[in-house]
Amino acid sequence: MTDLYCVFGNPIAHSKSPVIHAAFAGQTGEDLRYEARLAAVDGFLAAISAFVADGGRGANVTVPFKEEAYRRCDRLSDRAARAGAVNTLQFIDGGVYGDNTDGAGLVRDISVNLGRSLAGQRILLLGAGGASRGVIAPLLAGRPAALFIANRSPDKAQQLATVFADLAAGTALSGGAFPELAGRQFDIVINATSASLSGDSLPLPAGIFAPGSLAYDMMYGKGETPFLALARTQGAAQCADGLGMLVEQAAEAFTLWRGKRPQTAAVLASLRATLS
Ligand code: ATR
Repeated sequence: MTDLYCVFGNPIAHSKSPVIHAAFAGQTGEDLRYEARLAAVDGFLAAISAFVADGGRGANVTVPFKEEAYRRCDRLSDRAARAGAVNTLQFIDGGVYGDNTDGAGLVRDISVNLGRSLAGQRILLLGAGGASRGVIAPLLAGRPAALFIANRSPDKAQQLATVFADLAAGTALSGGAFPELAGRQFDIVINATSASLSGDSLPLPAGIFAPGSLAYDMMYGKGETPFLALARTQGAAQCADGLGMLVEQAAEAFTLWRGKRPQTAAVLASLRATLS
């Protein structure tokens, strides 16, 4: 029998996850169907129950349900517990297991697809919301020299730095406001804010991009994102959007569900072609 998976979100119509997982299934010979399911904003738990009743084996979770998914789980991976959010569910033995593959997807995109080791690097993470929180532990696991979290509301950045302090062995971990970036330089600058959704640009002081630095936007879309346009004019040597992270977090979820790691390069290339 064909195994059933889905992605829950609201909105969900434009999700690329069904295309990505169909490609992974074809490539690995796994017999599965993966669909997009719209859940009402106040109907996520009911949507899960209906899906499990339909025989669903696992699901991805996207905006705005990742925190609610976290609270629903009976068991959590360490990285999901740390993130306080779940993007991958597995329905096993009558219970719900939750994982968070976003951070691993980001790190894999940077380290494998973009060929940059995190070890010894000075990393700047912009934003202190859910997207940022989900990637801090995997970034720290790469043993950077420094990780600075900058946020419009600096107290939230400082709080995140405190929460993850026990994982920061060997990394100078701290948080603060954008003006505190003046005079500092970073090798990797990651945008995890939602500023571009409201058309705002980030108040980044000039000179923060070190020679050879990477600017990474967790957002993606047709053409250059506003953050990457700013980064390029401020001297970032390499720019990447979040499409690779999307494909890599999907590959992590697929590996959890099916015990087989799919190849991502061709899937990423064909998605990229549909964006241009
Ligand atoms: P997500 O789950 O996508 O991280 P979130 O939890 O609402 O969403 O967090 C949004 C992040 O983008 C926050 O860090 C927010 O900064 P504040 O904590 O100060 O609100 C940041 N953000 C949103 N709009 C922004 C803007 N116009 N300028 C700077 N930062 C912004």
